[in-house]
Amino acid sequence: MQARLDALCAEGWSIWERFERTVRDRDFHSFVAADYDAVRSALLTHRTPGARFLEWGSASGVIAIMADMMGFEAYGIELDAALVTTARALAMRFDSRAQFVTGSFLPTGYKRLGGDGESDTIGDGPSGYLQLGRSLDDFDVVFGYPWDDDAPLMHDLMRQYGRPDALLLLNDTERGVRAFRGGREVTTPQ
Ligand SMILES: C[S@@+](CC[C@H](N)C(=O)[O-])C[C@H]1O[C@@H](n2cnc3c(N)ncnc32)[C@H](O)[C@@H]1O
Repeated sequence: MQARLDALCAEGWSIWERFERTVRDRDFHSFVAADYDAVRSALLTHRTPGARFLEWGSASGVIAIMADMMGFEAYGIELDAALVTTARALAMRFDSRAQFVTGSFLPTGYKRLGGDGESDTIGDGPSGYLQLGRSLDDFDVVFGYPWDDDAPLMHDLMRQYGRPDALLLLNDTERGVRAFRGGREVTTPQ
């Protein structure tokens, strides 16, 4: 499994570099790749084969595919349809069962914290849960990579719609991948 994870991460970085050159150098786009090594080790720590995993804003799909390789039942929701195509192609190349849908990870009717103003980093669109045939409280582990001001919204989503015992993993650019359950940070023995 480790060699396949290495190959997946290497391919993920080359997709990201191409995306930066061809898309982000021209216009703002909120896809920035997470720290794959840090996410990989957090997923290994919390690995529970058969548990259901959701990646919010799954972009190229690397993290959901990683979760599938570790035995999670893995899904991703991404607003940008072109990125969903990229993620599905990557899943096929790695023979992964991870599933991706185009849509928003915000549930229908969700009122954003701080009002419904436009955000550059968390966009609007039809909610993706219907297509998945699952709601947020069907997931045991949820991963997000919030931009600076978006972490409170992700905690709010879990509080309102997630299962109280579900694990929320957030990629934090300063502090690595942090794990929360029921709104409290979970520390794991080193
Ligand atoms: C910071 S990137 C994270 C990418 C990927 N999860 C990773 O960690 O490498 C955020 C992603 O969320 C997507 N996105 C933004 N708003 C969204 C929404 N409401 N629903 C689903 N995806 C969204 C963006 O298009 C972008 O690909």
